[in-house]
Parts: sequence; C-alpha cells; structure tokens
Amino acid sequence: MTDRGRLDGQVAFVTGAGGGIGRAIALGLAAAGADVALFEIIPERARETAARIAELGRQALVLPGDAMDAEALRSAIAATDARFGRLDVLVNNAGGVSGRPFLEQSERSWRRHIDINLVSMLAATHAAAPIMVREGRGGAILNVASIEAERAAPNFAVYGACKAGMVSFTKSMAVELSGHGIRVNCIAPDHTVTPGNQGNRAGPVDPASWRKPAPDEADAMNRLIPLGREGNDTECGDVAVFLCSSLASYVTGAVLPVDGGTSAAGGWVRGRNGKWTLNEGLTFGG
Ligand SMILES: NC(=O)c1ccc[n+]([C@@H]2O[C@H](COP(=O)([O-])OP(=O)(O)OC[C@H]3O[C@@H](n4cnc5c(N)ncnc54)[C@H](O)[C@@H]3O)[C@@H](O)[C@H]2O)c1
Repeated sequence: MTDRGRLDGQVAFVTGAGGGIGRAIALGLAAAGADVALFEIIPERARETAARIAELGRQALVLPGDAMDAEALRSAIAATDARFGRLDVLVNNAGGVSGRPFLEQSERSWRRHIDINLVSMLAATHAAAPIMVREGRGGAILNVASIEAERAAPNFAVYGACKAGMVSFTKSMAVELSGHGIRVNCIAPDHTVTPGNQGNRAGPVDPASWRKPAPDEADAMNRLIPLGREGNDTECGDVAVFLCSSLASYVTGAVLPVDGGTSAAGGWVRGRNGKWTLNEGLTFGG
C-alpha cells in the first residue's frame, strides 16, 4: 500500500470498539497510524483493544459508554477533542438486532433498535462533524450498515429499516458535508464472525472459544455465499480503513458490500448439485 493509505497524525472515534467489527476497524485504523478513541459499553473490552493499540505504537482513549445515550456520545466526543484537539475519522459501528416477527415485536424493542442503530449515528455525527469542520482538514465518516439495508429482512424488519435509514443518511451527509471535504460512506456486511454473531454479548473477546460451524452449517454458508464462507471482522476492518484513507479520496456517499458476493447474487445460491439456482429443485440452463 502507498502512503496514501496511511492515517499518521489522525484521530479516530469508533463506537462499539471493544469487539467484533468495531474492534477490527479500531485496530486497522491504529495500524494505519491513527490514534483511536474507543467508545464501548463493556469497559474491559475497550481496555483490551487499547492494549493492542498501544502495542501498535498508537494512543488509545478508552471511553466507556452506551451508544443509546446521545449525551454520553456527545461527552465522549468532546473528551476526544479535549485530549487530541482534532478529529479526522468517525466510525458509527455500534448496532444491534434481535430477531422476531414484527407482529410479535414490542414498541420498546422497535425503539431500542432505532436508538442503537440510528439515533447513535445521528448523535455522534452531529457532535463529531463540527470538529472536522472547525479544523478545516476534511474528514471521513464511516457507517456500518448491513446487507439487510437493501433487501427484505423477515424477522428483522425494524433492524433492516434502521440499516436502510443509515444508508439514506450516509448519502445525504455525503452531499451536505462535501463542501468541507468530509467524505461519508457505508459498509454493508453480511454474515461476519464476531462475538455478537457468536452469541457472546458480555464476556471477553476470545476467538479461541468460538464454536466451529457444524459441517451442515458450513455447507449451507458455502451454498448461500458466493465466496463460500462467512466473513471475518478483519475483512470489514480493512475495507473501513480503505474508505477512511485518502486511497478513497474520491469516494463519498458509497455503500460498499463486504459480503462475499451475496448481495450481487440477489438470491442465487449453489444447489446441492453445485449448480447455481434460485431454489433447490429448480433448474436453469445447462
Ligand atoms: N456480525 C455480523 O454478521 C454483522 C452483519 C451485518 C452488520 N453488522 C453490524 O456491524 C456492527 C457491529 O456488529 P458486530 O457483529 O461486530 O457486534 P458485536 O456484538 O460482536 O460487537 C459489538 C461491540 O459493540 C459493543 N456494544 C454493544 N452495544 C453497545 C452500546 N449500546 N454502546 C456501546 N457499545 C456497544 C459490544 O460490547 C461489542 O464490543 C453492528 O452495527 C451490526 O449491526 C454485523
């Protein structure tokens, strides 16, 4: 990679930075040279990420807090500004989902989905972008949406609606903030192995403890995902670093799938006979 992929001297703020995709993004940004503020609801996870960042020779600022609390986000971003005097990269990663049919979902659950996935992004962007504007060097905002933003999400309807809202907000902000040189982009992951995806929402992040998929699950993933497997958090981190660096200096308002080709496939899967099909049992062409 050329120096244009470097973020030396820059400061990033990442939500949900203690585990999964957020941690991989924080570590990727630090490896590219940025100091990173780690906003995280489980402080020990953030401290573990901070230790990894220190090993990379960069500074980390641990900021315990709940992304559903807009005031906590504002205070954390102000603390980042007070510590580093600048902010170049904002990553809105913290998000959450629980699956059930919409008609069985409570209003409390809808509102929690909206708070964690959407309001957190609005609050952090509202607090962070003015610092970028003030400093006059431009900046990068990266929103972590999902493949569910752009397809039906049965049993995850409110989550899908929130992620679609993230994509819409990404595009509007890309235009509103363009005059300040602030680029706003989105990644849209599909199945990614993370603590949350493994059902670990509390303890330390220990990939060694993660369960291996049973052979029939691995086969199902292989047939669903063109690249034949689940993604890993680092693969999201790498794309996020690219979008936040000047390698992507002419990219704004984009939604980049990090999904092994699933969104491109648009419903086509590998049949058990190895041929592409829209449903097991249907045959198309040779
Ligand atoms: N893993 C996937 O398969 C997948 C697929 C598509 C999109 N996503 C999106 O990626 C993002 C990250 O997902 P993940 O799988 O890495 O999650 P994860 O649960 O593995 O990690 C999330 C991190 O954020 C922290 N966190 C959770 N709630 C928080 C809150 N309210 N405030 C602050 N920190 C909080 C957690 O403690 C954890 O360290 C989410 O927005 C999710 O919707 C994930």
